Amino acid sequence: MNRLLPLLIGAIGILLLATLMLVILPAWQLRSSEPPEQLQPYTHEQLLGRQQYVANGCIYCHSQQPRATGQTLFDSARGWGRASTPADYFYDTPHLLGTMRTGPDLLNVGARMKSRDWHLTHLYQPRAIFDWSIMPSYPYMFDVKDEPAEDDVVVRLPAEFQPPGGRVVVATQEALHLVDYLLSLDRTYPVAKEELEKRDRGYDRRPETASNDGIAG
Ligand code: HEC
Repeated sequence: MNRLLPLLIGAIGILLLATLMLVILPAWQLRSSEPPEQLQPYTHEQLLGRQQYVANGCIYCHSQQPRATGQTLFDSARGWGRASTPADYFYDTPHLLGTMRTGPDLLNVGARMKSRDWHLTHLYQPRAIFDWSIMPSYPYMFDVKDEPAEDDVVVRLPAEFQPPGGRVVVATQEALHLVDYLLSLDRTYPVAKEELEKRDRGYDRRPETASNDGIAG
């Protein structure tokens, strides 16, 4: 037991170092981020949709962080948009960066897929759009009715995915909010230079592909 003191000092030292590297330094690096002019705060409906995104585990298969060409050549080639910068997440609490990419990155899905009908069909049954899709369907976000009410949003489905007996599938508020959120995901505006430096510090930029990154100025 005569080694207790060095052990204690070592443990506290490691904890302090980890706090410095993982909490204090990153917070200091990001302290100056301002929201970009073109980035709108989420509306109430979009925030409710964001909660659905969290609750339904979309993050387990979808990232929200297209990377720079200095980090990987593939993201911009896949059409996921320019690499994100810290300020792009100004209104995101908690952030939904994600680490898994079983499906495509979604940070700019609202810019490339703008149809509410498409998203509703896809959420109700991804196989109605791509027969090879491995994305789960979310039928519990929809109701099946004999007749749609006047303000119901009817989901457009190919004949083989229609419920039997001429009934219709309509979206619940949860599905509509989730789609509101997906359509709001668009960070394709140009990046401020300081944000770019913050993002690329430590990475070599590849000038030949840098033009894909939508850099301002
Ligand atoms: C098990 C993994 C998995 C989960 C969970 C998942 N997805 Fe997907 N997602 C995929 C795959 C794979 C694709 C590509 C095939 C397709 O479009 O169906 C995809 C595609 C998409 C697309 C089209 C993107 C594009 O660029 O084509 C959207 C939008 C989407 N998912 C939204 C969601 C939402 C919202 C949730 C949560 C409610 C979710 N996904 C949950 C795997 C998943």
